[in-house]
Amino acid sequence: MRHAYITGTGSGIGRAVAVRLLEEGWKVTGLSRSAGPVHERYTHITIDLSDEAAVMHFVFPPLPDATRIVLVNNAGMLGHIAHTAQADAAQQATLFRLNVTTPVLLTGAFLRAYQAMPVPQVILNVSSGAGKNPVDGWGAYCASKAALDMHTRVVDTELRMSGKAHIRIFAVAPGVVDTPMQAHIRQSSPEQFSRVEEFKNWHHEGILLSPEETALKYSLVLNHPELFEQPVFAAKEIQTDQVHRFNTPIHQ
Ligand SMILES: NC(=O)c1ccc[n+]([C@@H]2O[C@H](COP(=O)([O-])OP(=O)(O)OC[C@H]3O[C@@H](n4cnc5c(N)ncnc54)[C@H](OP(=O)(O)O)[C@@H]3O)[C@@H](O)[C@H]2O)c1
Repeated sequence: MRHAYITGTGSGIGRAVAVRLLEEGWKVTGLSRSAGPVHERYTHITIDLSDEAAVMHFVFPPLPDATRIVLVNNAGMLGHIAHTAQADAAQQATLFRLNVTTPVLLTGAFLRAYQAMPVPQVILNVSSGAGKNPVDGWGAYCASKAALDMHTRVVDTELRMSGKAHIRIFAVAPGVVDTPMQAHIRQSSPEQFSRVEEFKNWHHEGILLSPEETALKYSLVLNHPELFEQPVFAAKEIQTDQVHRFNTPIHQ
């Protein structure tokens, strides 16, 4: 059985990845505050992932029937959009716990639980272009995604040094995806975020990616990590024909 742990299955990309993997026949455990998809192979754990103590208490259980195990660190927040002097300090602290501390802690716990098992394992961090390029009004968010990228690169280096070729880690930026996070961005003012009109136009023109097509690309990484050499990249680098050539057929 292929097992997936996905954070943030309540909406958006995380929910779409959960649905896609369930369609492919995986067993999925979702972690978020609101409920995930309803399916016989889906288990939901209700948890506030910005609560460090709750995250530290989470235990990855033994999976004796596993043929592949993956962790998708997807849950994230953009928080209060504002230039730094006006930013909400409490939300910035919560954002760092959710976007950085939690994936770092879960990655360590996942490796401790499963690294001795000789089955393919993938940790997929949902990164962002905002971790590579500065965006005004998104200071804490940009910094959190840059931190996630660097942690990914460090773990990738460690796995290669220790010869654990059966475990791969990636940070993959999805692009601009039509989710509640994008709706939140469009509600900001030009004073909070200078490019808000551009984001509204993209939405108006219907050029945002769907969570479902993003999930297809993430599924390819989870099923075929051997196709990807670099630990940090963007989903737009995955060609659509590559997705269709390699993607696992839907079982049910
Ligand atoms: N959409 C884009 O254009 C875009 C671009 C680049 C990167 N991303 C990244 O993609 C990831 C998913 O975002 P999305 O676009 O799909 O937005 P979304 O629909 O707002 O999803 C955020 C997910 O995170 C979960 N979450 C938020 N706060 C949480 C908390 N305290 N505890 C547990 N779970 C929490 C939410 O579930 P609950 O509310 O149920 O807890 C939800 O499932 C994020 O890491 C985001 O940074 C998105």
